[in-house]
Amino acid sequence: MDYRELRQKFISFWQEQGHALVPSSSLIPQHDASVLLTTAGMQQFKPYFTGTPSPYGASVVSIQKCFRTADIDEIGDDTHLTFFEMLGHFSFGDYFKDKALKLAWQFITSPDYLGIDPKRIYASYYNGDRPNTTADDVSKQILESLPGLTKVVARGAVDNFWGPTGDEGPCGPNVEFYVDDVEIWNEVFNEFYCQVDGALTPLSTPGVDMGGGLERILTAVTPEATSLYDTDAFAPIIEAIKQHAPGVGENERSLRIISDHLRGSVFLLGDHIQPSNKEQGYILRRLLRRAILHLDKLGAVAGFEEIITTIINQYGEFYPELLKEQKMILQLAALERDKFLKTIADGQKELAKILNKVGSVVDGEVAFSLFSTYGLPLDFVKEEAQRLNKSIDLPAYDQAFAKHQEVSRAGVESKFGGHGLASGAVVSEADKQIITRMHTATHLLHAALIKFLGPEVKQGGSDLTTERIRFDFTFSRGMTTEEKQQVEDWVNARIKQNLKVLREEKPIKDALAEGALSFFKEKYPDIVSVYTIYNESTGEVVSKELCGGPHIEHTGEIGAFHITKEQSSSAGVRRIRATIGK
Ligand code: SER
Repeated sequence: MDYRELRQKFISFWQEQGHALVPSSSLIPQHDASVLLTTAGMQQFKPYFTGTPSPYGASVVSIQKCFRTADIDEIGDDTHLTFFEMLGHFSFGDYFKDKALKLAWQFITSPDYLGIDPKRIYASYYNGDRPNTTADDVSKQILESLPGLTKVVARGAVDNFWGPTGDEGPCGPNVEFYVDDVEIWNEVFNEFYCQVDGALTPLSTPGVDMGGGLERILTAVTPEATSLYDTDAFAPIIEAIKQHAPGVGENERSLRIISDHLRGSVFLLGDHIQPSNKEQGYILRRLLRRAILHLDKLGAVAGFEEIITTIINQYGEFYPELLKEQKMILQLAALERDKFLKTIADGQKELAKILNKVGSVVDGEVAFSLFSTYGLPLDFVKEEAQRLNKSIDLPAYDQAFAKHQEVSRAGVESKFGGHGLASGAVVSEADKQIITRMHTATHLLHAALIKFLGPEVKQGGSDLTTERIRFDFTFSRGMTTEEKQQVEDWVNARIKQNLKVLREEKPIKDALAEGALSFFKEKYPDIVSVYTIYNESTGEVVSKELCGGPHIEHTGEIGAFHITKEQSSSAGVRRIRATIGK
């Protein structure tokens, strides 16, 4: 089955079941102001789950453009994408669990449709572990009656209770179907409305919100495919890159990153997002720049526009806005490329000067400054140095890198892990001091969240500007007002106690063995810095984290800590904004 056939089969199956076809909405959500980009098919339908009559009728089918930044670091593996298309069928108070699950099973297994062998499939349903909810025994029974489905498992709210998107909205237990252990299909049964404080109230007319990644489903039904990129959704794009990259051989990951990032960029540009240093524009800039660096690595930058045109042509058939905006998409992408290449060229000149001056070893911090100022990646600097029989002080480079990751989060471009982006960061001493105090406050916040919300909390990402702390963490529901107060009070009490912040350097293995929390997802150097916050009189440790720093010496320097906002960031991820000060 190819990409076109899959779309067609999905749409006609649900149309035959009385569903109206609704076009994809924009990647900029219209009903979810607190979410940067559309992450799910249900977002454009949010009001219809809560009583607003749907102009399309009570059951609809769609293929929605979606973008999830949470997976940005996984790009290059077999199963994650930033931009993807989501197949969805929805019921607004029409049918519910029985019909939804039976029809889904028919579509997934019938030879007339996906024809997937039930032996490859397992299903999960909700076990009821969230307060004020019960296990979804109704779904369990239906699943157990489905012909050929032998593996049915119960799971907790982290996996099997979905929503809401944004600050509040419909949510409920869900059933997931996995093929060869990859989730391809999610049937959400919206039974509740989740308030901003996390409280659940039953919906008067429960609804169904199903979502399944088109690219993942296509992979499941393409016999020779072992990854999303082995399907015909990506074939023309990969082909276009290869045309310009004769030596691509071992750079499979680069091919994947370029394909994913340029596809995402085309769709963001098509929805009138422009590269910038803020919000959606920043995500776009990051995708474009990273793609360009990987193209550069393959010697294929010359193919940039052709690859983009290939993507527009491939998807224009289904998303006419891409054809309509073709000229603008190409112009803006090329403008960003030129800007970025100019910065890199300046960096190359600087590198040549440096290599001219130094002896046989380039100082790690100097090499790193070429990255932080001009975006010159380490590999590039290394190769140039090697050509002249020189080398880089790599441990010092790693140290500088780790430090930079924390310091330069002052609202500049290198927010997302720093790999391959020019930051252009100019941070004043005063700003650095604020950021340093914020770092320590962030460690206290992290510790408090784990203390009050439990081990489910895992840090997603954090971002500091001189104005505010932003902290993402995995958690399946909104925090209550009380929980926010508890966290804030606990952090403020630790600030008042003026606890000691101790920095130690040790092998990564030892740090992890001591239970130090890891602060960022990037590759760590062999020797890492561990920051421990503890009470000098009692010895009580309140936080231990692996972190590049920098930090203050005593928590009293933070002054005060205040949570200004807690909201959803993406599915299962919460976002806190907080400030510090006297
Ligand atoms: N809203 C659910 C999801 O995004 C199902 O569509 O996975």
